[in-house]
Amino acid sequence: DWNMPDYIGEAVAKIREQVGGDEVILGLSGGVDSSVAAALIHRAIGDQLTCVFVDHGLLRKDEGKMVMDMFAKNLGVKVLHIDASAQFMGHLAGVTDPEQKRKIIGREFVEVFQEQSKKLTNARWLAQGTIYPDVIESAGKGKKGQTIKSHHNVGGLPETLNLKLLEPLRELFKDEVRKLGVALGLPHDMVYRHPFPGPGLGVRILGEVKKEFADLLREADAIFIEELRKTPFEAPLVPGIDPGKAPVNWYEATSQAFAVFLPVKSVGVMGDGRTYEYVVALRAVQTLDFMTAHWAHLPHSLLGKVSNRIINEVRGINRVVYDISGKPPATIEWE
Ligand code: XMP
Repeated sequence: DWNMPDYIGEAVAKIREQVGGDEVILGLSGGVDSSVAAALIHRAIGDQLTCVFVDHGLLRKDEGKMVMDMFAKNLGVKVLHIDASAQFMGHLAGVTDPEQKRKIIGREFVEVFQEQSKKLTNARWLAQGTIYPDVIESAGKGKKGQTIKSHHNVGGLPETLNLKLLEPLRELFKDEVRKLGVALGLPHDMVYRHPFPGPGLGVRILGEVKKEFADLLREADAIFIEELRKTPFEAPLVPGIDPGKAPVNWYEATSQAFAVFLPVKSVGVMGDGRTYEYVVALRAVQTLDFMTAHWAHLPHSLLGKVSNRIINEVRGINRVVYDISGKPPATIEWE
């Protein structure tokens, strides 16, 4: 069986042997894989590691602060926090096509990361949180797997930066990466977070991305996630879904859950007047592989509470709807 302290010891020794006295850079996204890779490499080589955290302005509420608190404050990891949101928003202005938005966000991400990396003139290695399923996916599917992952795995950077690749999680499955993360001292909630797409809220704001929309969406999404975490899970799971252990709350009972911003205004009443404000859709799914997914049968009381809170607390949104579409044909994301 898998003995964690032994595994960490071996992995640390291997990284030290590979890297020697060289400096390493790593793109921290806030996701599980890059976070666990950062914690492991930091355990091995300490200050020889510098992380670059690019905030594209499309992160979830308080995500930047959370990453900085956990890595810079708690673990003492060197992290460069780059606020590039104005640059990203500028390039996204007027763009409505989802694939075009993905391309722009991916391209800007590489550019910002590269610019920062070049300042670290002693770096010889680029570390990535590539895990075993990523290796299989890009080997099997070739180009398609590459493009899906190209954003958060910072594809293409080693060539242009002339760096060697350090990928200490290459042999691990997701559940092993999570166990490793917990053993390295990362908080349970962080390590067991739902996946978040590289383009972030950029593909959860339908059509043109605007800061105003991102700000509204961040608030609505945070309320949804908070209520999912607070609500105990009591219902049976949809047959065929086995999360490995019994979920304690509805966040754990779902595989991915988030709010989507719809740039349409619908009518509402407030006092004697009518309002025309934006709509938010809630999406929560249960799945094992993300290739097919069931919509989660969230309790009506939970949906009602989330809806009330969003409408009362987020000025600018007066209608909340719940997405009851399965995948296929509907995808998990709305773009
Ligand atoms: P769909 O929407 O295709 O999503 O059912 C399946 C899974 O992939 C994630 N996803 C992405 N992840 N970059 C990413 O890193 C992307 O452009 C992207 N698009 C979708 C989605 O969140 C879900 O987990």
